[in-house]
Amino acid sequence: MGGVWWDENSRLKRKRWERHQKLPDMLNTYQPHGGLRGTCSYSYFPCMPLKCNAEKATYRWILEPNSSLLHKYQLIELIEGAYLEGNKSLSNWDVFTHIPGHIKDDSDGDIADDHYHLYMILYILVKNFTNLLATGGRFGKVNSVGITFYNRLIDALLLKGIQPFVTLNHYDVPQDLEDQYGAWLNPQIQKDFGHYADVCFKAFGKKVKYWSTLNEPNVVVILGFITGEYPPQHCSKPYGDCLSGDSNIEPYIAAHNIILAHATAVEIYKKKYQVKQGGSIGIAISARWYEPLRDIPADCLAVQRALAFDIAWFLDPVIFGEYPPEMRQVLSLRLPTFSSEDRRKLQHKLDFIGINHYTSKYVKDCIFSPCEGGKTESTAFVMSTGERNGIPIGTPTSMPDNYVFPDGMEKIIMYIMQRYNNIPMFITENGYAQGSTSNDPTTDMLNDTSRVEYLHGYLTSLTRAVRQGADVRGYFIWSLLDNFEWLYGYTQRFGLYHVNFETQERTPRLSAKWFKEFLEGPEVIERMNRDLECLRSIY
Ligand code: BGC
Repeated sequence: MGGVWWDENSRLKRKRWERHQKLPDMLNTYQPHGGLRGTCSYSYFPCMPLKCNAEKATYRWILEPNSSLLHKYQLIELIEGAYLEGNKSLSNWDVFTHIPGHIKDDSDGDIADDHYHLYMILYILVKNFTNLLATGGRFGKVNSVGITFYNRLIDALLLKGIQPFVTLNHYDVPQDLEDQYGAWLNPQIQKDFGHYADVCFKAFGKKVKYWSTLNEPNVVVILGFITGEYPPQHCSKPYGDCLSGDSNIEPYIAAHNIILAHATAVEIYKKKYQVKQGGSIGIAISARWYEPLRDIPADCLAVQRALAFDIAWFLDPVIFGEYPPEMRQVLSLRLPTFSSEDRRKLQHKLDFIGINHYTSKYVKDCIFSPCEGGKTESTAFVMSTGERNGIPIGTPTSMPDNYVFPDGMEKIIMYIMQRYNNIPMFITENGYAQGSTSNDPTTDMLNDTSRVEYLHGYLTSLTRAVRQGADVRGYFIWSLLDNFEWLYGYTQRFGLYHVNFETQERTPRLSAKWFKEFLEGPEVIERMNRDLECLRSIY
């Protein structure tokens, strides 16, 4: 559930606190294949209200089309569907997915989970599971249909006792902005994003207490402007083969505008709304962990560079007002500088860091060692790989490059905790994919023991970080429902609920039951373990 803060005087919160105290034992009683009982010893578990899982997938830009600067509201591809309803206009992902060959199964997000029409049903189905609501917006006349839709959605969540945790922007931008001025490549977007955020704070801020400005700006920039796999598909060789772009220059311009767009939204929230509305605001970053490929100092330095070029690239500026020294050393003047006006905006910092963590990889140094593929400045002079001497870093999953490496969760949290002085953190995404091209809820699609083991392993690792003092305030599973998985279309399924995309029927998987019961207490977990063992003996 979004968030219930610890407060000694509240009975409800105390009850939750007592349950959280038991979390380590609950984890201990769960025994995956080999049986973990006895191998992890948990002692005192510091104050951590455990937040539950969430679906984090809806967002529209809530503005009318024919204003000079922007258009209607945009739909996000992942779950909403209804891609031309409710005064919505096109996003860059709408345009991108409609071009044949871009998406693995040649699908698009036009209907996706049809969440736009089914959301009331969805919440009855999901019961205790929380949803993460995200919205988008921009200059122009506010689209009242979009505002009404999200208000209803937020009310429905609150009625079910679910705290909305809203992400303002998850990958897509209005196609209009691409066409008018190149979206993230133009500083104008800072103002447009600020305006959009203002609209959202005003419309929903009385009810929404958690705001994340952007989801994974590092993915947007790396895949959109270095390798060119995501829209706007800008890149240059050797990083990728695109019609336009410059992988040595554009990523730093786009990142700069994204960072300052975030700072603009934070400043608006802090100055105009935070005191009245009492919420908090942060940003969510894609945070992969890296292990050195070889046990040599050069590869340890490569790990530091990889983390800086991935994570600190965005977090250092919004927290310290400067780009990371590891990047400046390599990129020198290619990295922009912040003006005094930028610094003034950046001083508002943020209230929490959102961490999206799925997997880990090895990295090898490419400054002192030869590397294939021309790994140069824009990739931090590192080569990443999932294998060492042919042995994968963890069990491979159906998602390319996603290995199960639970220790990465503890390590990435400790890295962020130490670098940013233990600013409150949320694990805003963590989850496991099953590959499938069929809509049938086959038995092994539903009895997702591998997902349960993944979640168990990563939660245990998260617990270790919390025991070392990490101020982690919440945890969200990606995701509640199977949904449109970007370049993979409907071929990768992350949901605790299976979705038949033809009938829109939702069916809870074993992991949905496991997670619900996990949140409910240790006795139930023991029962679940027994069931799980039983299922394993059958499948
Ligand atoms: C993204 C999600 C995506 C998930 C699984 C995350 O990095 O934020 O949108 O669906 O990864 O690939």
